[in-house]
Amino acid sequence: MTHQQHFGWFLARGFGPQGWGHPYLDWNWRWTEPALYQQSVRELEQAGFDMLIIEDAPSLGNASTIDLRIRQAFGGPKHDPLLLAPYLFAVTEHIGIAPTVNPAAYIPYTAARQFASLQHLSGHRLGLNVVTDTGSARHFGSSPPLGHDAAYDRAEEWLGGIRQLWRSWAPGALPGSEDRYADGSRLTTVQHRGEYFSFDGPLNAIPFLEGEPAIVSPGGSGRGLGFAGANSDVQLALAPLDTESVRAYRARIHAAAVEAGRNPEDITILFAIQPVLVGSADEADRLVAESANPDDAAVLHIADRQSSDLETDLTALDFDRPLDRTVFGDHVSEGSINRLLGGYDPETTPLRQLLAKQARLGRLTDGSGFVGTADEFADLIERLGDDAENDGVLLWGDLHPVTVHRLLDDLVPILRRRGILRTSFGGGGIHGNLGDF
Ligand SMILES: Cc1cc2nc3c(=O)[nH]c(=O)nc-3n(C[C@H](O)[C@H](O)[C@H](O)COP(=O)(O)O)c2cc1C
Repeated sequence: MTHQQHFGWFLARGFGPQGWGHPYLDWNWRWTEPALYQQSVRELEQAGFDMLIIEDAPSLGNASTIDLRIRQAFGGPKHDPLLLAPYLFAVTEHIGIAPTVNPAAYIPYTAARQFASLQHLSGHRLGLNVVTDTGSARHFGSSPPLGHDAAYDRAEEWLGGIRQLWRSWAPGALPGSEDRYADGSRLTTVQHRGEYFSFDGPLNAIPFLEGEPAIVSPGGSGRGLGFAGANSDVQLALAPLDTESVRAYRARIHAAAVEAGRNPEDITILFAIQPVLVGSADEADRLVAESANPDDAAVLHIADRQSSDLETDLTALDFDRPLDRTVFGDHVSEGSINRLLGGYDPETTPLRQLLAKQARLGRLTDGSGFVGTADEFADLIERLGDDAENDGVLLWGDLHPVTVHRLLDDLVPILRRRGILRTSFGGGGIHGNLGDF
């Protein structure tokens, strides 16, 4: 039976040049100023979205790859999403806002206090997308970067410490009494001495009325899923969108939650997708057919984007020769290289073929891609809800009025008519949004 699902928007470029590389740049919004995001986030709230997640990476990468990141603005510049959040809270009432934060960048006491302040300022609508990127380590000190799993260990210690500080005001500490604002005897002296952090409490911020900031996590490795199971309210999932894959992914998160002693239902899992929605099935078929043989410009565009993601200049390579894996430094993840290889034999497949594959579009209706009508997309969402008991969907794009409208204009009424998308908010801040329908 069709049930309501949760909807999030992932601002995939972060607080960066929205519109760059697209004709909608000429709408002349300024990406550095709040109006662009305020206009867009109001539309998301009107559409019934639970939350907006703002991607971030604090670093431009290393000296030899900076240009790859910024020349098409795929990997920078990015301003700090935590500081954008208050401008978005100020023009909305219900939607949650989750900036991305990296434990390397904020010492726990400062983090606990800043996040607590924002949670109160926003009416309890703050989320925190906790990521463990270690490529930016050198900006925060001279210690060598942590390994993959150690970065998750540090993130757990960081979050645990922050939560200890948030909870350092015991119930009843506020209000004190008629002649006392608060009761100091009810505050716990936190003394944290851990592997990565040492600090004392209690926190100089008052306790929450409607829950702590919601923790969001995107890591998909075994360790990443373990982190989500133990700590997260929302998991962002990247997986093929067929019933079996969605079921399998959900089962892994649920198992991790049970292992951590939590109720699996307390984690909302949102599957990421960036559909290309068009007016008719004929138009969708035409777009897919047109992309079958990508021209040089399309292949070069993909090479540029991959160069940014992989921090390796693919555009300088001979596209007609097989890809030499040794061009990738140690800093490039195996997973990202394998995604580029897409199952092809690297010894014999020309780079052009790998890039062209990524430029080709596919249809929503046969699972080969994401081009389709709003009705076809709604079919997919409904199917995943019915057959895989999916919690919800994370739409992916710039936070720009054009992209928001392009995706949502037709989709929202269809989803509402089918009972999949909320028509109103019930209150209760971000946890209220994430609660059962
Ligand atoms: C939907 C989604 C959003 C993500 N957002 C960010 C982000 O904003 N910043 C970041 O550094 N990494 C981001 N990541 C990457 C993950 O944090 C993580 O680095 C990556 O998945 C590798 O971790 P893993 O080895 O646990 O999978 C995102 C991943 C996904 C799937």
